[in-house]
Amino acid sequence: VASKDETTESSEDEEHEGGALGGLMSYMKQKLNISGPQEPPVKVLSSLDVDGVVQHMKSDNCRNIITMAGAGISTSAGIPDFRSPESGLYNNLQKYNLPYPEAIFELNYFRKNPQPFFTLAKELYPGSFDPTPCHYFIKLLENKGLLLRHFTQNIDTLEYVAGISEDKLVEAHGSFRTAHCIQCRKLYHQNWVKDQLFSDHIPSCTECAGVVKPDIVFFGEGLPDKFFQRLSSDFPSCDLLIIMGTSLTVQPFASLIDNVPASCPRLLINREAVGESDSVMSMLQNLMGKSGGLQLKSPHNTRDVALLGDCDDGCLLLAEKLGWKEELDELIVAGKKNGTDEAKV
Ligand code: OAD
Ligand code: ZN
Repeated sequence: VASKDETTESSEDEEHEGGALGGLMSYMKQKLNISGPQEPPVKVLSSLDVDGVVQHMKSDNCRNIITMAGAGISTSAGIPDFRSPESGLYNNLQKYNLPYPEAIFELNYFRKNPQPFFTLAKELYPGSFDPTPCHYFIKLLENKGLLLRHFTQNIDTLEYVAGISEDKLVEAHGSFRTAHCIQCRKLYHQNWVKDQLFSDHIPSCTECAGVVKPDIVFFGEGLPDKFFQRLSSDFPSCDLLIIMGTSLTVQPFASLIDNVPASCPRLLINREAVGESDSVMSMLQNLMGKSGGLQLKSPHNTRDVALLGDCDDGCLLLAEKLGWKEELDELIVAGKKNGTDEAKV
């Protein structure tokens, strides 16, 4: 089982077919007797823009949509993401005196010093935030029978709150719903951990006094089985991949984008362009007959579209162009009403 790992970010967008690199690539292909991709991808989109994607979504060829998300879909709910320069969590952890920001989610560090994680967990504890229009757009895809699966890296549970069915959801980085003792693996439920946390105790095992850690996936831990099962069952039949609010820097989640069929359109909705492979990775993957990363700026792009900006705006624009605006608004209003009713109870 692959463990969660931070990748190095891609540096420049060198055109991999040209220049010295291109020469090296043809040389290696010849030497290794490797041919390129077997079948050239079919162009599915009528145009490489949002209208092309919308036309595809309206057609009978688009029945299985997979959505992939990260912290950026929840920032408008008031939850910080991790890597945005000013507001990102990793830039705001000074008070925890960590050796480096990611240590707060590292198992080895947690074994030695669990306090920073629990202080943060208390601050960001699920239950105090409302889903965003983007979450409701994903729910609308489910209502329309178009959502094959939603893969999320988020642990804020806002997908559940928005009503997305458990069956449609893959929580790739786990959740707070269960917890385990890191020594004897005894199972604990969310409420027990929550009580400990909110009375400012480090949750410790009633059997062996080991620390009890919520089942969110730390760096150095394996992802849930469901992630790998759904990856192999769903991605081969994906007709459209929508990637939202993620920097695509954490593996193995980031490489999901390379698991859809070669012709499957991929729409990125994010504040910045991400997921474009660096030239060396592209070259290696090309050699193996695979494409690596989004091809947003490549002249060979046949299927990737970027809608740069806020996830909510992107989803509202899609809904409008699809003629779903009213239905989306209804879901948002109903969600707000539920939230208010719950608050009253
Ligand atoms: P990041 O913080 O790395 O990336 C968030 C991305 O969303 C960035 O590219 C932002 O520019 C973008 N963004 C932020 N707000 C947005 C908005 N309203 N609309 C559109 N785009 C927006 O977050 P992740 O990719 O989710 O692991 O990070 C991956 C993993 O790294 C997390 O699951 C977490 C962390 O270590 C944990 O274990 C908790
Ligand atoms: Zn124990």
